Amino acid sequence: MEKLLITGGQQLSGEITVSGAKNAALPLLCAGLMTDETLTLTNMPDLSDTRLLMRLLTNHGLDIQFQDEVISLAGAATNFDAPYDLVSAMRASVLVLGPLLACYGEARVSLPGGCAIGSRPVDLHIRAMQSLGAVVELADGYIQARAPHGLTGANIVFPNVSVGATENAMMAAALAKGQTKLINAAREPEITDLGECLNKMGAKISGHGTDVITIDGVAALHGATHDVVPDRIEAGSFIIGAAMTGGNLRLHKVRPDHLDALLAILKDVGVRMSIDTDSITVLPSTDLKAVNVETAPYPGFPTDLQAQYMALMCIADGYARISETIFENRFMHVPELMRMGADITVDGSYATVKGKIDGLKGAPVKATDLRASISLVLAAMCANGKTEISEIYHLDRGYANLESRLQACGATLTRAAG
Ligand code: EPZ
Repeated sequence: MEKLLITGGQQLSGEITVSGAKNAALPLLCAGLMTDETLTLTNMPDLSDTRLLMRLLTNHGLDIQFQDEVISLAGAATNFDAPYDLVSAMRASVLVLGPLLACYGEARVSLPGGCAIGSRPVDLHIRAMQSLGAVVELADGYIQARAPHGLTGANIVFPNVSVGATENAMMAAALAKGQTKLINAAREPEITDLGECLNKMGAKISGHGTDVITIDGVAALHGATHDVVPDRIEAGSFIIGAAMTGGNLRLHKVRPDHLDALLAILKDVGVRMSIDTDSITVLPSTDLKAVNVETAPYPGFPTDLQAQYMALMCIADGYARISETIFENRFMHVPELMRMGADITVDGSYATVKGKIDGLKGAPVKATDLRASISLVLAAMCANGKTEISEIYHLDRGYANLESRLQACGATLTRAAG
């Protein structure tokens, strides 16, 4: 197992370009199943998660070419099975369910199982397919779904907001007969990006990005070219890293309008920033204040930035109360931050952080999940002394070429064999 060795005390300064969004790239790749013409995606991040999904789609029979952040997916699916070993390694693989059902009338997709941050059920995905007329059975750990006469549009009300279920339903409904309305739909920018791509492929989708999405089914989709939206979570991670290290960092290819909740909170914390249409510059900021945060579905404060924000609060002045409302076990970074001297108490879905303005201390720590791992990297960059982060395969899932990009901005970090 590889690990990262980080020497603290460096400022994160200079220029950095934000990658294409992992959480947009994954559903967009699955949309490649919805036409046998060529779907070309540019600004495709090269991550272990996207590589894993490419393996799955190749297994389904697609012809995939990927080079220099451009991927093309062509051909028809010939195999409708998504096996356990691939789906359990990358949960978003469940997003092949809607496309396979809509295009081929059948899908056998392994139940993804849980992960470090929660049980991660897919009941809302299954209910959406059933609402569209699919017959779904759960057997041998698999979702076995059939729609031999195709899918039929319906009104689907989600009892709680689900990004993945909204995406699966939107893709399935794109080829259903008649109209579908997704009510209480997730509003994340990655969903808007998927809707835009599907419309370029000939779908008739409106309202994506709001909580009611209307889809008028069409007979078939065609090839298209689409640019993956910038990764707001990666951008937020770098912004927080610059603020923690007192750096002067300019981020390029970022969508500030996708970061309203974070930017508003960081302003209250005392982080100085200048914001343009597609770039954000973090200015050297001192006297950072503790500010409470509660995670929520978009446009609220993203759960995927909770761990990174907690690292920032570890060195702010005062007490910050962080409430995690989306996942039931997303405080795995807490014991690791405490090994670095952080003062954090957890009570159910609340964590209270007492900021230590004399900073954190380097220590051996362990990555436990994707966003926890980046929060440890940020903490290590501003800690006194050396930190060793093990199990960094979690990091490689969501951050491409992280070391070289952070080294180019002044960080002292190297990867070593475990
Ligand atoms: C997406 O996961 C993201 N992943 C997650 O990012 C992100 O944290 C999450 O949305 C919330 O924003 C991708 O887009 C690939 P949900 P998803 O369905 O779709 C419950 C990262 O770090 N739920 O919106 O799986 C679920 O348990 C990852 O990049 C059901 O009960 O999240 C959770 O409590 C982590 N039944 C809540 O809904 C279902 O069928 C929100 O989950 C589905 C979800």
